[in-house]
Amino acid sequence: MQKNIAVIKGDGIGPEIVTEAMKVLDKVAEKYGHQFTYQEVLMGVCAYRATGVPLPQETIDICKKSDSVLLGAVGGAVGDAEIAALPGHLRPEAGLLGIRNELGVYANIRPSKLFKPLAGACPLKEYITENGLDLVIVRELIGGAYFGKREIITNDKGEKAAYDTIIYSVSEIERLVRTGFEMAKKRRNKVTLVDKANVLESSRLWREVSERIAKEYPEVEFTCMLVDNCAMQLVRNPGQFDVIVTENMFGDILSDEASMITGSIGMIPSASLGATKCGLYEPIHGSAPDIAGQNKANPVATILSAAMMLRYAFDLDTEADAVERAVETVLEKGYRTVDIKDEGCTVVGCTEMGDLICAEI
Ligand code: IPM
Ligand code: MG
Repeated sequence: MQKNIAVIKGDGIGPEIVTEAMKVLDKVAEKYGHQFTYQEVLMGVCAYRATGVPLPQETIDICKKSDSVLLGAVGGAVGDAEIAALPGHLRPEAGLLGIRNELGVYANIRPSKLFKPLAGACPLKEYITENGLDLVIVRELIGGAYFGKREIITNDKGEKAAYDTIIYSVSEIERLVRTGFEMAKKRRNKVTLVDKANVLESSRLWREVSERIAKEYPEVEFTCMLVDNCAMQLVRNPGQFDVIVTENMFGDILSDEASMITGSIGMIPSASLGATKCGLYEPIHGSAPDIAGQNKANPVATILSAAMMLRYAFDLDTEADAVERAVETVLEKGYRTVDIKDEGCTVVGCTEMGDLICAEI
């Protein structure tokens, strides 16, 4: 199989972790007889410095023409006052939101699974996770407060004020909720809609639409949960969840929480999918500028994102399984990056972790 992959390394630890993921993809290509070609494009602070905007048109064009997009992370360095002071539309994060929107990837799939060898890195008490923890957050990615009307205004008392709007149409909710139900059918047949329907009108619409769609999936158990309760349940009894379906901002917040209970945010991949096969594959963590360039970053989230690319974009399930198994084996053998270090384990750098995973494929 021949595939063209657009690669956005981005800022901070982005280049290091993406380099390891490309190494793993090359190993897969060699072993299974595929050919992956890469085209590197700029986004984030590096793009702003080179071109004056965080998301150059060339990046958009190349990503749209590619078979899939692999992304590291974007974001300014700690204490970089110039980047921190940029207006919203020039900030590196605007590049990230822009590319998600340009590619139309409305469904962000964020699995949180407790790898057995990492049980010691899980901050929860053992009895809470003894039955395992394996959930997926299906987060709406190109709507809600992230894309709604926003403004800085002067209020009627003459004071500076600002607002953001959460707005969702029925069709935007429908397509996301359907993605969640389809995912549940391939897993444990359980969907939890997370919302704030006791307060927000937009959440009440999510509930109305989801309840209607749930009727099309009688085999799937459907429940609704308020977001504050969900935040609590994730640390009280995370094993109760299979597929969580939720709007953009709730999904952003809950997926960070769900990642930490698996040991480290450095372990969690994501796939952002739309109507076409060309998805965007990125770790859920940020650019971690404080550890950039020190060979300390955990490349596993990006490597597992590459595995999701093999599975969802290229239908290469065997290859994706091989990558996931390789990660598990390396962890079983006791190798850890510093974020997941544990007693008796061997701490390795980003490059070594990539090499070890390649060696197991
Ligand atoms: C994420 C990140 C982004 C988001 C930021 C960097 C804009 O936190 O992918 O979860 O909020 O979507
Ligand atoms: Mg986030």
